[in-house]
Amino acid sequence: MSFETLPKKATLQIDNQNLELPLVEGTEGEVALDALALRKETGVISLDPGYGNTGSCTSGITFLDGEKGVIHHRGYLLRDLAENCDFLEVAYLLMSGELPNEARYAQWLGMIKENTFLGPMLQELLNHYPVRSHPMSVLASVVLSLNGFYGDLGHEVFNGIELDAVRLLAKTPLIAAHNFRRKRGMGYIYADPDMGYAENFLYSMFSKRLPEERRKIMSEALEKLLIIHADHEQNCSTSTVRMISSSNANVFAAIGGGIGALWGPLHGGANEAVINMLEDIAMQGQDLQEVVRRAKDKSDPFRLMGFGHRVYKTYDPRAVIAKEVVDDLLVKLGVDEPLVQTAMELEKIALEDEYFVKRNLYPNVDFYTGIAYKAMGIPKEMFTVLFSMGRMPGWLAQLIEFRADDSRRICRPRQIYTGPEQRDFVPMSER
Ligand code: ACO
Repeated sequence: MSFETLPKKATLQIDNQNLELPLVEGTEGEVALDALALRKETGVISLDPGYGNTGSCTSGITFLDGEKGVIHHRGYLLRDLAENCDFLEVAYLLMSGELPNEARYAQWLGMIKENTFLGPMLQELLNHYPVRSHPMSVLASVVLSLNGFYGDLGHEVFNGIELDAVRLLAKTPLIAAHNFRRKRGMGYIYADPDMGYAENFLYSMFSKRLPEERRKIMSEALEKLLIIHADHEQNCSTSTVRMISSSNANVFAAIGGGIGALWGPLHGGANEAVINMLEDIAMQGQDLQEVVRRAKDKSDPFRLMGFGHRVYKTYDPRAVIAKEVVDDLLVKLGVDEPLVQTAMELEKIALEDEYFVKRNLYPNVDFYTGIAYKAMGIPKEMFTVLFSMGRMPGWLAQLIEFRADDSRRICRPRQIYTGPEQRDFVPMSER
C-alpha cells in the first residue's frame, strides 16, 4: 500500500452515519488511521486487546520493518551502529537525536563518568535486600528509590538530556554489579575512569580477578550486545515507561516500572528463560523434535522461548548480530559451550517446521544473548538486568520525547464492559 495512491481520509460507516477519519503517514511510509474523533462523533470505541493494531504515539526515534527485518535508530541502521559505535555514543544518539562529534562525545563521557558512583547511603540500602532477591527486583526497587536521593525533574543539562537520565545511565551498571558482589559477600569495587562503559561494569562485577585480556574481549562483545538492546520503539516496557510518565510521575518511577515490565519471560525475561530451556534439554537429554512438538501443542503451556515476536515476521535483525557476537566471543575466549549446538539444532528444526513457518516464528533477540552472557561467566539471574542496562537509553529517549510532545495526554485506555448489568443491591442477610 502506498500513501501516494491513498485518499488522505478513510470513511467509516456505522449504522447510517459516515465519519471521515484522517490518515497519517510516517517518514518510512507507514499509514495510520487517526481515530481521535471516533468516540466523540459516534459513541463507538476501537477494541484492540494487546494493541496489535494500535499506534500509541508518533515517534522519531526508532523505525522497525517487521516484514523485512529492518531496524534503524534516528535513521542509522542498527548494524552500522553496532559495528562502528560504542554504547554511550548510541545512547547519546537516541536521546539527543544526533551522533556526537568528538567534542560533544568527550563532554558526554565526562558527564557519565562524573556520575559513575554510588554514594554510601545507596550502598547501605543495597545491603538490606534479602540475599535471595532476584536482581531485577533489586534493580527496579533501587531505581525507584533514587527519587529520594535525586529528582531534578526537567533539569536539562546537555542537548535535551536531563541530569536524571545521565544518573540512571551511569548508576544502573553499578547497582547491578554491587548487588552481584554483596550477595556473594564480596566488597564493592569502584569504577575506573579509564575504562569504557561495558568494561567498567565487568570490572565492578569481577574485579581484577578477571584478567585484563579477557575483560577487553568480553567488554567489546558486551558493548555490541548493549547496543542491540538500546531501543525497540513501543514494546511492552517502553509503553509502560510512557504510560507511567503520562501521569507526570517522576523519571525514576517511570523507569522502575519499565524494569518491572521487562522482567516478564514473554519480554526481556526470555533471555533467562531460553538458557533454562536449553539447560533442561541438555540435562534431561530431551529429544529436540519432542521439544518442538510440545511447543506446538496448544494444551501444553510450554512455548519455545526466544522464538516469535509481535513485530518481526522474519528473522529478528538483532538476533543475527547476537549470534555473530556469540560465535566471535566463544572463539576469542576459547570457550566450548555445548548449548550453542543445542540452540542451533533447535532453531533448524523449528525453522523447517510447518507450524513455525506458517506463523512466521523466528528466533528473537533473546535466543542467543543468554549464551553470550553464560560464556562470560555471568549468572543467569543477571541476564535481564543486562537487558535493562541496554534498554535504558531507549526508555529515557522515549520519555524525553514524550514529555516534549504537545499532543501528550494521560494514557487512559477505555474498555467494553462485559460484567452483570446494573442490579438491585441485596443486603447480606438476604444473600
Ligand atoms: N512457541 C510456540 N508457539 C508460539 C510462540 C512460541 N515461542 N510464539 C508464538 N507462538 C504461536 C502462538 O501460540 C500463536 O499461535 P495460534 O495463532 O495458533 O494461536 C501464534 O504463534 C501467534 O502468537 P501470539 O502469542 O499471538 O503472538 P504475540 O505477538 O502476541 O506474542 C511473543 C509475541 C510474546 C513474543 C510470543 O511469540 C512468545 O511468547 N514468544 C516466546 C517468549 C519470547 O521469546 N519473548 C521475547 C520476545 S522479544 C523481546 O521482548 C525482547
